[in-house]
Amino acid sequence: MTQEYAKLIIDGKTYEFPIIVGTEGERAIDISTLRKETGLITFDPGYANTGSCKSSITFMDGEKGILRYRGYPIEQLAEHSTFVETAYLLINGELPTRKQLNRFSVLLNDHSMVHEDMRHFFQSFPRRAHPMGILSSMVNALRAFYPEIPERSEEEEINVTVTRLLSKVRTMAAMSYKISRGHMVVYPRHDLSYAANFLNMMFHSPVRPYVIDDDLVDALNVFWILHADHEQNCSTAAVRLVGSARVNLYAAISAGICALWGPLHGGANQAVIEMLLQIQENGGDVRPFIERAKDKNDPFRLMGFGHRVYKTYDPRAKIMQKICYKVLKKLKRHDPLLDIARKLEEVALKDPYFIDHNLYPNVDFYSGIVLRALGIPLNMFTVMFAIGRLPGWISQWKESMEDPQWKLHRPRQIYIGVGEREYIPIDKREE
Ligand code: SDX
Repeated sequence: MTQEYAKLIIDGKTYEFPIIVGTEGERAIDISTLRKETGLITFDPGYANTGSCKSSITFMDGEKGILRYRGYPIEQLAEHSTFVETAYLLINGELPTRKQLNRFSVLLNDHSMVHEDMRHFFQSFPRRAHPMGILSSMVNALRAFYPEIPERSEEEEINVTVTRLLSKVRTMAAMSYKISRGHMVVYPRHDLSYAANFLNMMFHSPVRPYVIDDDLVDALNVFWILHADHEQNCSTAAVRLVGSARVNLYAAISAGICALWGPLHGGANQAVIEMLLQIQENGGDVRPFIERAKDKNDPFRLMGFGHRVYKTYDPRAKIMQKICYKVLKKLKRHDPLLDIARKLEEVALKDPYFIDHNLYPNVDFYSGIVLRALGIPLNMFTVMFAIGRLPGWISQWKESMEDPQWKLHRPRQIYIGVGEREYIPIDKREE
């Protein structure tokens, strides 16, 4: 295949930059020598037009609504896989053999306990502390409780850290929930699967044993599979950027948790439910909220709608909607917020503003309904997203560490402040 070039003419001089072509034909202009050759940089607020890396992990087509992890369509993984198997796929690049999966599951079980001294850490948080703030702090604290062992090779150290993170994150999430309510902490059990263990740690009590429902465990597996990775989203970009300074993985993941917390990113799943509850309190009429979302003078946005990449229906939202109905049917429950969500979607998708702006439901629009049905408290919704996204963050971090083109992330800028000026002693400054 002949190399294509993009031509750039600056001050009458022509520069050529190679065009990179991806597996699915997407193209990029390689401007890695732009400043050296031309003295200019590019300007792209929010990086909407900027590729930060080449990656083999996840492919998205925002126009066609395609999402694949290591080549496997999200619809097939949601139908046939488990979260642990999908985590293995993302991190290792291939679906595990039965032997590899069993070994991985044993390692996750072995690492599922949390250092007993960490409990005091949990107990010292104010009862009303947001679980995302607790989670990012506790993940960062893992390095202190599990220091690097010099005798281990770098690869061994990374493998242990990865397994420790994947396994302990769910134990820490459940522990912070129990402690925040003054309840007894429930330990992980060796005889339960990853998702069943989490639900048991969250909801079991000696006086009211938690009954494992396989359909709810399946729903949680699909929920986490749908969240497992999403190429260079805000929180993954944060993990890669912080990781580029060669900081330990716990710190890089803690940065990703903080980025995910934002209501424009992972925090949207909590914001969607808060929005639907507000509509319900206002009598269930969705139109005023649609009008507010369209009003440029109103900062309100339809939570769970719109996406930087998807300009069509988020394929994950379609699957999540089905899970809503499946879980509610199993529980013989009706959630009026689902009716409001469906009505909101129906009205918005017929409205020229949403059509013209390519605004469709994203993964967060229905996910909160599933979490409500599972009994997850509202302030833990984004924690659930974080547990799901962890294998994606880890796989992206590993890929960036192994990238031969790896560089410390350090964007440039265009300075628009005041020009040079002399220092003024304080007694000469005008009040
Ligand atoms: C996630 O990147 C990922 O992959 C993220 C994620 C993942 O898996 O990691 O998919 C998870 O974060 C999903 C997104 C969750 N966030 C929300 O649901 C919050 C509501 N959505 C928006 O805030 C918004 O759609 C974003 C932030 C998600 C994306 O916005 P962009 O790409 O930055 O686009 P923009 O803000 O420049 O909006 C473009 C136009 C604007 O109107 P104009 O000024 O051009 O006329 O669309 C409008 C916006 O006002 N718009 C909305 C809207 N989203 C965009 N108007 C009303 N309601 C909305 N939700």
